[in-house]
Amino acid sequence: MARNKIALIGAGNIGGTLAHLAALKGLGDIVLFDVVEGVPQGKALDLSQCASVEGFDAKITGSNDYADIAGADVIIVTAGVARKPGMSRDDLLGINLKVMKAVGEGIAANAPDAFVICITNPLDAMVWALREFSGLPHNKVVGMAGVLDSSRFNHFLAEEFNVSAKDVTSFVLGGHGDTMVPVIEYSTVAGIPVPDLIKQGRSTQERIDAIVQRTRSGGGEIVALLKTGSAFYAPATSAIAMAESYLGDKKRLLPCAANLTGQYGVDNLYVGVPVIIGKDGVEQVIEIELNDEAKANLTVSVDAVKELLDACKAIDPSLA
Ligand code: APR
Repeated sequence: MARNKIALIGAGNIGGTLAHLAALKGLGDIVLFDVVEGVPQGKALDLSQCASVEGFDAKITGSNDYADIAGADVIIVTAGVARKPGMSRDDLLGINLKVMKAVGEGIAANAPDAFVICITNPLDAMVWALREFSGLPHNKVVGMAGVLDSSRFNHFLAEEFNVSAKDVTSFVLGGHGDTMVPVIEYSTVAGIPVPDLIKQGRSTQERIDAIVQRTRSGGGEIVALLKTGSAFYAPATSAIAMAESYLGDKKRLLPCAANLTGQYGVDNLYVGVPVIIGKDGVEQVIEIELNDEAKANLTVSVDAVKELLDACKAIDPSLA
């Protein structure tokens, strides 16, 4: 059987980590693509030199030519720039929108059958724009945010309850940003809902509220610590879990930014919701019952995503 091919568009911090993880997990051969000459080639060579120590046999190459992503089964997009001091949100949108246009066209021309996972921020707008520019089916273009946001929430909950993070499952809906909606009722430790653990006196509502707030600003906390750049280990791990579910037809139920067609009362917008990922990409959007507070928070989050899309359309009228 032919090996899978994984193309990574953007060979920066997340791109390099993705390549390493994909090689260690034996997901397939890997092409690292970047506009900067030398960087993808250098990282590919460095990573290839892990092979004999780690015992993997993935072929890892670097490229500045979209032709080299031809036939990719999975494409993970991290291309773009991060917001720098003094840059407005619209400046960032303008720059990364242009990047999504180039990437979308490169994918459409060379790997139109791929399953595409977008990580570039602002995520909910960039994944939507990437889908528009690539013209790929909606079920084959998905955004990585919820897996990361949930894993951050899980980590903080595991610390709070002093249990293994492995036993914590949590649920984060909505846009990837300050308006994300961590849903306490669906967050559990080995099946025990967090509200029950509060009733047992193992934490307090105030402490859980603080954890929700810390999760919402989880990315910013790391940016403030790193000072140059943003989180990359957990974002890469999260996207790899999504790629594995697609490649292995695992049908994992993961929170991802997916195109909604009426679910949760939202139409034609990418928003973080629970989805099943299998061989057909996003195979199902799962609708869960939300209490009034979560519903109201989701509305705020959806409105924030809509605002971003309006800004994108103003910058690039071809998207209107
Ligand atoms: N095509 C391909 N690659 C590009 C393009 C482009 N048009 N423009 C920029 N890049 C590359 C850069 O050269 C750089 O190597 O994208 C890479 C981005 O890497 P980093 O700056 O290290 O950023 P990273 O930490 O990997 O994050 C990437 O994911 O989480 C989001 O906010 C984050 O949007 C950012 C993205």
